[in-house]
Amino acid sequence: MMQVKSQVSGVELAAHRFIAAFDAEQAAELCGLAIVESFADKEIIFEEGEIPDFLYLVLNGQVEFRKHADTERYQSVSLAGANDFFGEFGVLDGQPRSAQAIACGTTTLAKIHRHSLMEIIQRTNGGVVLKLFLYIIQRLRTTTDQYVQQTIHKERMGLVGEMVNTIIHDFKSPFTGIHLASGMLKEMHPDEDTQEWCSLIQAQIHRMLGMTDELLEFARGSYAVQKQPVNLAHLLQRFEKLNRIYFTHANVELIAKSTDLLVNADENKLIRVLQNLASNAIEAFNGSGGKIEIAIAANGSWAEIQLADNGPGIPEAIRSRLFEAFVTYGKQSGTGLGTAIAKSIIDAHGGTIDFQSQLGEGTKFYIRLPLLNFDC
Ligand SMILES: Nc1ncnc2c1ncn2[C@@H]1O[C@H](COP(=O)(O)OP(=O)(O)OP(=O)(O)O)[C@@H](O)[C@H]1O
Ligand SMILES: [Mg+2]
Repeated sequence: MMQVKSQVSGVELAAHRFIAAFDAEQAAELCGLAIVESFADKEIIFEEGEIPDFLYLVLNGQVEFRKHADTERYQSVSLAGANDFFGEFGVLDGQPRSAQAIACGTTTLAKIHRHSLMEIIQRTNGGVVLKLFLYIIQRLRTTTDQYVQQTIHKERMGLVGEMVNTIIHDFKSPFTGIHLASGMLKEMHPDEDTQEWCSLIQAQIHRMLGMTDELLEFARGSYAVQKQPVNLAHLLQRFEKLNRIYFTHANVELIAKSTDLLVNADENKLIRVLQNLASNAIEAFNGSGGKIEIAIAANGSWAEIQLADNGPGIPEAIRSRLFEAFVTYGKQSGTGLGTAIAKSIIDAHGGTIDFQSQLGEGTKFYIRLPLLNFDC
């Protein structure tokens, strides 16, 4: 959930904001001292705790700063993009690096050795120092804001976890009651219709329990997917069957087509993804009905699932943050978890999810999942 801090795609060394803060003579001197170095994706620039020796200017690409959360995990603290500089605290006070710096994608940096830099800074004028000082303060503010946002997000997720725990606890006994009662009805009335309706009730109860468990998993941040070969055409049929009544009541026409495609997946979780997206479309129709089209086809080594609706479109205000948890818009009881859960499920399958939306025209989600046994 880190935000890209700089939108600049690349910058020449002489035009970099750090160099440009100095007068022409010192700027030229700094350019002469700078060593330009390229880093591959995920290459470590420096480690947390290391003794600092250089100041780094980002010319191209992006750098992520991470702190050890525990022995195995890291927590992302902030990002630096083209035209940003980093490592200045260590250069100024000589204290060990407070975070690890790692390249995100191919990244080009110019590094200036601490001793030469300190020597130049000591003889530069106050105006230059002030400019650098202001920039550093501004960056500290942004990092602190991001950190606070992350902490609030974690706190909210913790609350959701607690809430869901209570809900599951309170729901389980009525769910079991309904399940048992429909089982008895099945035994008492062997006719085909009753069997079918009762099976549907039982399947829905099963799903509701599954949903609450999923919400709990999502809140905990641990997503366990039990993968096995799944035929997407069968999955789509199951989805249609489960939703027939819901769609009819909502006056929604469902057009679904799929070829036989195998993916290694957790079928129930993929159904959940379709369910969350379809429910959003139906909620967006706002009672006036509409059309949902689901098309599943192969595209190279991927199975591509497209889910389109002809609703009002996703409000522009939330488009860039749609997949974030708690982003909701225009709904009285929206929690803003539907698309976040869908994305975390697709991520856990090594797939991608994206969308295009136009106000007044509709929305189309694109999901890609790796095909099973795909031979090039
Ligand atoms: N197909 C769609 N058409 C129009 N708006 C949509 C569509 N899908 C999502 N949205 C908008 O995106 C918001 C976020 O959707 P999301 O499913 O993440 O949360 P929610 O539906 O508000 O709450 P929840 O799913 O947790 O009940 C919705 O509130 C809605 O405003
Ligand atoms: Mg939703």
